[in-house]
Parts: sequence; structure tokens; C-alpha cells
Amino acid sequence: MTTEMIFMDHGVGGGPEVLVTARGAVPEVKAGEVLIKVIYAGVNRPDVSQRMGKYPPPPDASKIMGLEVSGEIVKLGDGVTHFKLGDMVCALCNGGGYAEFVSVPSGQVLPVPKGLSMLEAAALPENYFTVWTNVFQRGRLTKGESFLVHGGSSGIGLTAIQLAKAFGAKVFCTVGSEDKVNACIKAGANGAFNYKTQDFVEEIAKATQKVGVNLILDMVGGSYMQRNLRALALDGRLVQIAFLQPSLVEVDWLSIMTKRLTYTGSTLRPRTSQDKAQIANELKQHVWPLLESKAIAPVIFKEFELKEVSKAHVLMESSEHIGKIMLKVSS
Ligand SMILES: NC(=O)c1ccc[n+]([C@@H]2O[C@H](COP(=O)([O-])OP(=O)(O)OC[C@H]3O[C@@H](n4cnc5c(N)ncnc54)[C@H](OP(=O)(O)O)[C@@H]3O)[C@@H](O)[C@H]2O)c1
Repeated sequence: MTTEMIFMDHGVGGGPEVLVTARGAVPEVKAGEVLIKVIYAGVNRPDVSQRMGKYPPPPDASKIMGLEVSGEIVKLGDGVTHFKLGDMVCALCNGGGYAEFVSVPSGQVLPVPKGLSMLEAAALPENYFTVWTNVFQRGRLTKGESFLVHGGSSGIGLTAIQLAKAFGAKVFCTVGSEDKVNACIKAGANGAFNYKTQDFVEEIAKATQKVGVNLILDMVGGSYMQRNLRALALDGRLVQIAFLQPSLVEVDWLSIMTKRLTYTGSTLRPRTSQDKAQIANELKQHVWPLLESKAIAPVIFKEFELKEVSKAHVLMESSEHIGKIMLKVSS
């Protein structure tokens, strides 16, 4: 049996045109893994970085792109007891999601939340795993605290807004257009600032009576670094999940000491399957009920066929989207 898949024509990166369709062997299923027949796959900014050759997959990961899918379990590896053939699931993949079949460690697989479509389910894993581990585990956001997320209209940003709000935080974000301001307010943000016309440090000072926010989730870096430190409250936390601007910048770190700040960050992909399974367990316990009660919901911007993946990457690079860009792999 073969699988239709997307891979890079020469493996070293380039523009969206290097993504090509091919047929290859269905992946083997090792002990502890399940084989999923993919229905939808999500497109994520790290896929764009991988395609450009700036974010190589870990050595043991699939060379095929794609970090999240929804679909049906069609094969169980040795030792997998908590799923059965025919279960409809979504999964955080270690790569390989842009294909008709992908094998995934079973701890990274979750049931489709009741009431969600397969399209919506495929939009969950990468954003929800990332936000949960960085905002709640690492950033320790609690009820009543204030929270700022940059890139508020991204898949990550909208997930962070909804989850922080659902857990009782006051939520702010920055975005690059008025449409995105409106989308973030609709998603539950108490304030959304257009960074092209507003200074987020001033806006946060106004919104918090000069106290600052307790937690910032940042994907920008660069010119935001110093300003993030200024926007934080005493004992504030700054969690870095990407550098859309340069990571090499000059920063005056004095306020780390005077305001007792904590600066940390993480990347999800290289973490162990055990780490990912632990995040999955917490999501199932604390977040899946919120999805099932419709307190929160993924925001889908546009769906493409698998063979149109280049168009999906062009859209993501344009940053015109609000929420998730998805690939339909099979029916
Ligand atoms: N550390 C981790 O584990 C982890 C996991 C997943 C994703 N990430 C990172 O999280 C970020 C969001 O991911 P996503 O898939 O949700 O991305 P996405 O939907 O493509 O969103 C990125 C958004 O960031 C905003 N942005 C701000 N400054 C930018 C700049 N200098 N260049 C490009 N865009 C800029 C853009 O909107 P506006 O500028 O219009 O506001 C853009 O829509 C990405 O940087 C990704 O690499 C990290």
C-alpha cells in the first residue's frame, strides 16, 4: 500500500514551489504507535520555517512535513491498549502530517472532542499543546491575572486568547490590522492593539493603571524584547516561543532584577513523547471539556486540498489570515 504525501523536491528548502506531491510507502507502525488515515492536516508557521530550511526536523522525525492531523485509527502498534481500530482522533505528529497516512506515538493522540468536526479537530493539536505548555505550565497563568499575547490573530494567538479568557485572565494582544483587532475582541480579548498605529507599552500601561501585565507570550522578539520587559508587572513572566524578528538584540536587563522578572521559553517539536503525552493528558482533562461545551472553539480561516499546499504556504507567509489554514487530505 502507498500513501500520497507532500515533501520538498530537493530537501534543502526554498519557496512554496519546492513542495511537491509524490507517492511513497505507508509509514511503519512501531510499538506504542498508531497508524492514522488522515482526513485533515493543519498548516503551521513552523512548517514554513522548515520549508525555508530554517527549522530542520529532529533526526528521528519524518522528512514529510505536517505537525497535526485528524483521522481514523487503522492500525495499532504493539502495546497500544487505550485506542481501538476505527477510533476518530486528532494527533500531534512528529512530522509526516501532510500525507494520507501517518504513524504517531499513541500518547500524542486525543479523541475528537464531542461535537467538533474532523476539520476543527485537526486545527487543535499544535496550537493547544503549545499554548498549554507555555502559558499555563511554564508561564503559570492563573485566574485574575493579566496576559498579553503578540500575534493575537495567529492560530497560536487566538488559542491563547480563548484559553486565557476561559481560565479567568484579563487578556490583551497585538495585531497588524483593524480586522484582526475586531477578530481578537470577538475571540474574547479585553483589548487588542494595532502595532502599526499604537504602542503596546503605552496601551498596556493605560489598561493596567501603570501596573503592567503578569504574563507575556511572545513570538516576535527583536524590537519587542526591551518593550516586553517594560510592559511586565512586578514578578512578571515572559515566555518566548519564536523570533519572527531577529533573536540577536541588545537589551538592558536591569528590570529582570528590579522587577523580579522571569524570562523563559520552549519549542514543542524536540520534546520527548513522554513530555507530549503529559501535555495531552492535561489537555484532555482541562481543555477538552471547554471545547465540548463550546466555551472555546478553533478559528478556521481557509481550507485547501492537499495538492494545493503551495497556495496554503503563500497565504500563511502573507500573514493575511486570521486563525488556522487547513489541508483536506481525504474524505
Ligand atoms: N515554540 C513552539 O513550540 C511553537 C509552536 C508552534 C508555533 N510557534 C510559533 O508561534 C508563532 C505563531 O504560529 P502560527 O502557526 O499560529 O502562525 P501564524 O498563524 O502564521 O501567525 C503568525 C502571525 O504573527 C504576526 N506577526 C507579527 N510580527 C511578524 C513578523 N515580523 N513576521 C511575520 N508575522 C508576524 C502576523 O500577524 P500580524 O503581523 O498581522 O499581526 C502573523 O499572522 C510562529 O512564530 C511559530 O513559529 C512556536
